[in-house]
Amino acid sequence: MVEVRAQRASKPVTVRAAAKINLHLGVGRVRDDGFHPLDTVYQAISLHDDVTVEVADEDALTVDGPSHVDVAGVPTDASNIAVRALAEVSCGSRHRVRIVKQVPVAGGMAGGSADGAAALLAHDRLHDLGQPDDVLLAQAARLGSDVPFSLVGGTARGRGRGELVEPIDDAGSWWWVVVPAAVGLSTPEVYRHFDRLRPDAPEQPAEPLDLLAALAGREPVRLARALHNDLEEPAIDLRPELGTLIERGEAAGALRGLVSGSGPTCVFLCDGRDGAMEVVAGLSEHYDVVLPAVGPVAGAHVLA
Ligand code: C5P
Repeated sequence: MVEVRAQRASKPVTVRAAAKINLHLGVGRVRDDGFHPLDTVYQAISLHDDVTVEVADEDALTVDGPSHVDVAGVPTDASNIAVRALAEVSCGSRHRVRIVKQVPVAGGMAGGSADGAAALLAHDRLHDLGQPDDVLLAQAARLGSDVPFSLVGGTARGRGRGELVEPIDDAGSWWWVVVPAAVGLSTPEVYRHFDRLRPDAPEQPAEPLDLLAALAGREPVRLARALHNDLEEPAIDLRPELGTLIERGEAAGALRGLVSGSGPTCVFLCDGRDGAMEVVAGLSEHYDVVLPAVGPVAGAHVLA
């Protein structure tokens, strides 16, 4: 009996997965399946969730994080995306999951997707499955549109509904300042508002050609000009205070501010680390949580 328990109690696996921002988010007219066609450029940045998974007698989930992260807003029942990921892939094993969140909740930074991707990878390593990347990516796409990118990380183009991910060579080191909102925004609600504001949206989403050229140039002023987000208008229409935040960040020295994905987190591209620290100082006069970050960083990876 003792021996069997020792065998089952394989070592917990912790996977770190990053927040994403969209440097370009082209959104087309809603498809018949309710999703919107996207042409996007994702970048993983240095805000992380750490997800620890171990074999247990009963399924269990805990979520922790610093006081500025609304962990109470994360479901701890079967609807949690890490739990859904494990339910999808585990054959009868039970798991204890611990999520330590740094990524804003319902913030437009794919924090939930990060947890889903981390759970898939942790499960693979915990049970020594060694599944090929394409299998993990297909599992990820079933969980959510941004989950495959959370596995891949770095900088990558996303098409389809965001799930078809192609890595982009990005030798730059881009400095960002991140300002989360106290209360999240629902992604479907922002997409629905996009439909109301843009009934004439083209079938094909805008391509990120300027953005790709600017990335290759590794020059932040040029990248700042090329940033683009079709969900910015609906997000600001739903939360007008985001417009004020963007103006303040740019007045504090940011090269460009924009809504991250479906918002309400706003991100500011800065002129290197020194530029980011200036913007942190300026925005901290108005906002409680102002975080510097750098990108690109790695996709989901095992820590221990
Ligand atoms: O794929 P995911 O579960 O993250 O999507 C959440 C919701 O966001 C979808 O149900 C849909 O309302 C909206 N969405 C969309 N078009 C996309 C991605 C997400 O309309 N490409």
